[in-house]
Amino acid sequence: MTLSARTAEQDRYQGASDTAIRHHYDLGNEFYELWLDPSRTYSCALWEGPDDDLFSAQQRKLNYMATGAGATGAGRVLDIGCGWGSMLRHLVEVQKVRQVVGLTLSPAQVESIQTWADDRYDVRVQNWADHGDGRYDAIVSMGAFEHFAQHGMNREQRLAAYRTFFKRCHDWLPPGGRLALQTNIAGRARAVDRRTVQEMLFIIERIFPESVMPPLSEIIQGAEREFDVVTVRNDPDHYARTCQTWYDTLSARREQARTVVGDEVVDDYLQYLAACVRQFERRNLGLARIIFERV
Ligand SMILES: C[S@@+](CC[C@H](N)C(=O)[O-])C[C@H]1O[C@@H](n2cnc3c(N)ncnc32)[C@H](O)[C@@H]1O
Repeated sequence: MTLSARTAEQDRYQGASDTAIRHHYDLGNEFYELWLDPSRTYSCALWEGPDDDLFSAQQRKLNYMATGAGATGAGRVLDIGCGWGSMLRHLVEVQKVRQVVGLTLSPAQVESIQTWADDRYDVRVQNWADHGDGRYDAIVSMGAFEHFAQHGMNREQRLAAYRTFFKRCHDWLPPGGRLALQTNIAGRARAVDRRTVQEMLFIIERIFPESVMPPLSEIIQGAEREFDVVTVRNDPDHYARTCQTWYDTLSARREQARTVVGDEVVDDYLQYLAACVRQFERRNLGLARIIFERV
């Protein structure tokens, strides 16, 4: 998608449009249930040791992000890009948060959460750019920031988009309030071979249209007027292992998946997950977990 071809919807949101997001996440809950872990967490896990399993590694990640955000015992916490609600559930059940608000662009995800959530959960099909003047004790966001600017934007345009996001988070938090952000990042541009270029284009154009892998420096620069950095970690091997586990599970259930979403989608997803494993291992992709504190 070139900038000249941008629609009014894209201009309004700067990042991926609702249509582009639904292209990915509304393939149907049944499809994702086949290969995600039982908590339906669709972002990088936090692994410990060779005998670890995906569910435990996802719970560890949820705990790391929630406690990093200072959410334990909090009154009200916002999850931007809440997926199928695993963090919302963790916040309520483990961290004893009294009220959680989850934003997603996917109606299928909201429907799924509403089958088990009670009135402590406020889940909306809403772009964060349209979210009003809420007040929150803490904010978390995992695996969504990649959608907040677009492939084809230049550095200044991306920075402007990121600054808008961090300014909104700043205004939702009290001084000293924390934002825990997890996102894919662009790796260092080492010698890039033809296969890497093809795989990165495949991921961006076919799987995550209108999205972009942010360089770490742009995230930090985008946030620097509003937030201090508390901690940063880069965990590419954790995402390679997560993607490998998703790949193995989908591969083992590929015939069942074909009946749910068809051959083309299953083949695309196997190719995308295998490409991600390779690109995280090669460090052409990274995985940042950043704890920010509002100034
Ligand atoms: C990869 S999923 C991650 C879901 C969840 N955080 C997890 O770790 O399981 C990305 C999520 O971000 C949401 N999303 C993307 N762009 C968004 C936006 N501008 N506003 C709100 N949600 C957004 C998608 O709808 C989806 O729920």
